[in-house]
Amino acid sequence: MKQETNQEYLLEIKDLTTAFLFDGKPVPVTVNVSYGIKKGEILGIVGESGSGKSVTVKSVLRLLPSPPSSILNGEIYFHGQNLLTLKEKEMQKIRGNKISMIFQEPMTSLNPVYTCGNQITETIMLHQHLSKEEALKKAARMLDLVGIPAPESRLKSYPHQLSGGMRQRVMIAMALSCEPELLIADEPTTALDPTIQAQIITLIKELRDSIGLSVMYITHDLAVVAEICDRVVVMYAGMVMEIAEIRDLFHAPLHPYTQGLMQAMPRINQQSEMLYNIPGMVPHATQMPTGCRFQPRCPYATEVCSQACPELVDAGDGHMVRCFHYEKLRKERVQNG
Ligand SMILES: Nc1ncnc2c1ncn2[C@@H]1O[C@H](COP(=O)(O)OP(=O)(O)O)[C@@H](O)[C@H]1O
Ligand SMILES: [Mg+2]
Repeated sequence: MKQETNQEYLLEIKDLTTAFLFDGKPVPVTVNVSYGIKKGEILGIVGESGSGKSVTVKSVLRLLPSPPSSILNGEIYFHGQNLLTLKEKEMQKIRGNKISMIFQEPMTSLNPVYTCGNQITETIMLHQHLSKEEALKKAARMLDLVGIPAPESRLKSYPHQLSGGMRQRVMIAMALSCEPELLIADEPTTALDPTIQAQIITLIKELRDSIGLSVMYITHDLAVVAEICDRVVVMYAGMVMEIAEIRDLFHAPLHPYTQGLMQAMPRINQQSEMLYNIPGMVPHATQMPTGCRFQPRCPYATEVCSQACPELVDAGDGHMVRCFHYEKLRKERVQNG
């Protein structure tokens, strides 16, 4: 049965609440998360560690074991179909096929005892009706696509024979080998050195341009977001705090948390060694403050902020924000030029 969804989106998450068991009781770690990604878009998901970025996308692919996790509420629409209602067998046809995912540490996802060629062809043959020979050819094409030199001979390499950057490229090749419509990249360059990181980012941009791939790009690094994303979702303590086009987010952030993240960004011309940090920490799921979850760390907080949780509202042109004081932030910016 098709439900009412936003036609703009390839994938739409609606009111997703995912819980984990703490002392035997399910406690939500993400609450009413709603965002969507358009075709051919690179959507950034940012927020400090523990904000619920990974739990949300793992819920999308239904990768979280239950128990201890459970989805308490919400829908996830892909082509108008609610993924949460699919049988595991149907979900397998989507996972790694229409939607692929890459993670931070490729060594844990590549099997050390098989060659790269073996692993990529296995993935291809699992989802597509190709002979072993055709699958090998395709695997070589994929390695070429992700910029691996001498792809034919690389197919014979074992993961440990490759550098970290090359392993991540192999992972991306594997993730793309089934021609997914959506790639979910969860901190894919965090473990890599800056030069390799820049190359992977360029690669992802090229793939979007050449094959129209949609990419959900999770990172805690706003510099990467500025480099690659069209639109950004800011998450904090399990909730979406702000959603904006990249330009609006950097020039006119409306949430104090987003402002804090920006202030904490290292600047090239920064003289001081000291980096600004948002004071305090992301609260644990079992110890959420009342009202707005950012309120204990927020320089703008007033009494109302500890009494009620603000809704995520449209502040104009689809720029969404969850803050009682966003108009004040906007005015201040205008006053300060
Ligand atoms: N397997 C788990 N069991 C219990 N709590 C978890 C588990 N995985 C994640 N969490 C909790 O869910 C919250 C969000 O985690 P996560 O989505 O991994 O954050 P992020 O990816 O933004 O760093 C955190 O508070 C974390 O402690
Ligand atoms: Mg994570």
